[in-house]
Amino acid sequence: MKRVAVTGANGVVGVAITPALAAFQVTKVDPRSDGLYEAFDQKDAVIHLGWIRVMGEPESGAEYIDVLPIDNRHLKNLELASAVIEAARQCGVRRVILASSVRADNFQAWRGPGLLSPSRLPTPIGPYGAAKVLLEEQGRFAASLGLEVICIRLGAITASDEPHPIDASERRVWLSHRDCGELIKTCLTAPAIPGGFCVVYAVSNNEGRVHDTGNPLGWLAEDGSDALAHATSLKEQNPKFGPLVKVSYTRLTDRTANDVALGSGVAKEHNAGFADRMLELLRKLADTPTAHPVSRFEHGLQTATRALRDGADEETIVCALFHDAADYFTTENHAAVVAELLRPYISPENHWMIAMHGEFIAGHGDKFRGHPCFERTVRFCERWDSESFDPNYDTLVLERFEPMVRRILSRPAYKWVLDS
Ligand SMILES: [Fe+2]
Ligand SMILES: [Fe+2]
Repeated sequence: MKRVAVTGANGVVGVAITPALAAFQVTKVDPRSDGLYEAFDQKDAVIHLGWIRVMGEPESGAEYIDVLPIDNRHLKNLELASAVIEAARQCGVRRVILASSVRADNFQAWRGPGLLSPSRLPTPIGPYGAAKVLLEEQGRFAASLGLEVICIRLGAITASDEPHPIDASERRVWLSHRDCGELIKTCLTAPAIPGGFCVVYAVSNNEGRVHDTGNPLGWLAEDGSDALAHATSLKEQNPKFGPLVKVSYTRLTDRTANDVALGSGVAKEHNAGFADRMLELLRKLADTPTAHPVSRFEHGLQTATRALRDGADEETIVCALFHDAADYFTTENHAAVVAELLRPYISPENHWMIAMHGEFIAGHGDKFRGHPCFERTVRFCERWDSESFDPNYDTLVLERFEPMVRRILSRPAYKWVLDS
């Protein structure tokens, strides 16, 4: 293949693959322009990297910045992709390569067994990941009409070509410029795409990698990052990043932008283990003394089981599972404590329900009649919580709820404004 049109060629990914495209005759094109048909005429392949991000929103790899309402950006990107794919098809281009993302499937929640396969039905990470899944499906449809389509679920490509210095999750999905370039070359030169369509995970051979990079094209990653756990001396490993393990200040007023970035990076890394620690907290409840016929652990499971069987939504089921988890520390104020732990990840309605369930169970719920969350809390207490001390009930095991917990507690945390 010789002639290739590239959208988003000046973004991070586009720049990273520039050396690999040296052997091809490249035409750069803005997917928002009216010139798609002209640009795609007589081309052998189109590489669609272009992706709009909204002003102020950090999204690696996107070249175009717009001032769209934040909720419209994914629709706009899908419209652009649709126009690109259709133009390629109409122009008789044989092959289209679409830049998808590892965020199309939730690798952060993946615990095996085995590696995350691109053939699995994906659970996207956020609206961005969901948009990438829809992008892939647009490609799958085009392939059914005869186009050859390769969707590359790109990992973390950085402008510096260095893996993230402190975020283990990002290091696991690091993609070196060289590996990315080789993959693009392979996509352009592979004689045929079996079935006309494929999805490939594009991450380097990183330590702790969770993605199955197997592909029908014959691409193999050459590079790889070390897992963070082995990088005991971060300062030595990343001298240009400055003091990584500790900030430079002894009082907050002296902190630099680098300190702030370091602090939030370490916090993000730590917070990624929140679901694990909450699940561990539940297991620990099994050994706390109680006069009830079932353990506190089983009481939570049984409450969640009843919520599930009653058709409650996933977030409410997770709330039911954890509603008494703070009993591990003390039963005093246990409702408010666990409600605050969950608060960044749940709705204000479920927060109120969990925070107030102790009042309702103690028989003081009536004074809240008329509150918007009253009915919900009554349902929780009467149908699920107070019923759930039955050792003969067919209670589901924790493993049944674990994926739900990980999904809910891995959501981006709300920045709450305290209630006045
Ligand atoms: Fe309780
Ligand atoms: Fe309870």
